[in-house]
Amino acid sequence: MVPMEEKTKVLIIGATGRLGYHLAQFSLQFGHPTFILIRDSSLIDPNKAQKLNFLSTAGAIPIKGSLDDEQSLTEAVKQVDVVICSIPSKQALDQKLLIKVIKESGCIKKFFPSEFGVDPDKIQITELDNQFYSRKAEIRRLIEAEGIPYTYICCNLFMSYLLPWLAQPGLKAPPRDKVTIFGDGSTKAVFVKDVDVAACTISAIDDPRTLNKTVSETPGECLLHE
Ligand SMILES: NC(=O)c1ccc[n+]([C@@H]2O[C@H](COP(=O)([O-])OP(=O)(O)OC[C@H]3O[C@@H](n4cnc5c(N)ncnc54)[C@H](OP(=O)(O)O)[C@@H]3O)[C@@H](O)[C@H]2O)c1
Repeated sequence: MVPMEEKTKVLIIGATGRLGYHLAQFSLQFGHPTFILIRDSSLIDPNKAQKLNFLSTAGAIPIKGSLDDEQSLTEAVKQVDVVICSIPSKQALDQKLLIKVIKESGCIKKFFPSEFGVDPDKIQITELDNQFYSRKAEIRRLIEAEGIPYTYICCNLFMSYLLPWLAQPGLKAPPRDKVTIFGDGSTKAVFVKDVDVAACTISAIDDPRTLNKTVSETPGECLLHE
């Protein structure tokens, strides 16, 4: 067994979120010293406070901070080897300050930016995209330009997120009066479980094959490409 002090130290940003919580749980389960960046505002929400309590009891080390607070980011980043960010798609560009801090720290062996969807370099953009993918692609280019070691996790669509309302744009409950059918009705989509994505992401932390690669996850399969 690898002694605790030699395990890869991980910082998770977004641990009170849906995917980030699973990422933090698996990081702890895999024995990584796990730091979680927590905003003060998180503590006001009872659900998030409960998640934080659970993670802290399981051994996570909370660090107060935010993606827009450079000092807290510097403090957090210098304590770890790997950073995983899991913030909402619409906030993807908020990772720019984090990228600057990672670059300046020089200690990060791998950065997992907030991706966890369809490959932003491959998807055909539609008006439903809300610029989510162009923002994620912009973050990729910045990481590569700064020479930061990275792994991009592409996992298609979360079952729990889209299937309950039949992937209907703008809905958060099953449609009752009208269903929009995409394409001619034979369009295929790949759905995965968010917990599996979290487990696979944490497995990639110490896997040298994933360095500076995109990991594409589909049920029962994991592919690597440049
Ligand atoms: N493939 C799919 O179908 C699918 C579906 C959903 C999500 N995703 C992807 O999964 C990733 C995470 O999404 P999610 O839905 O799990 O997010 P979420 O539940 O909305 O959680 C967001 C997390 O980010 C934290 N956060 C937001 N702004 C922050 C800031 N400025 N500083 C520090 N922390 C901040 C929040 O902290 P607070 O508690 O302080 O607010 C929260 O912990 C995204 O990359 C998204 O694209 C993919």
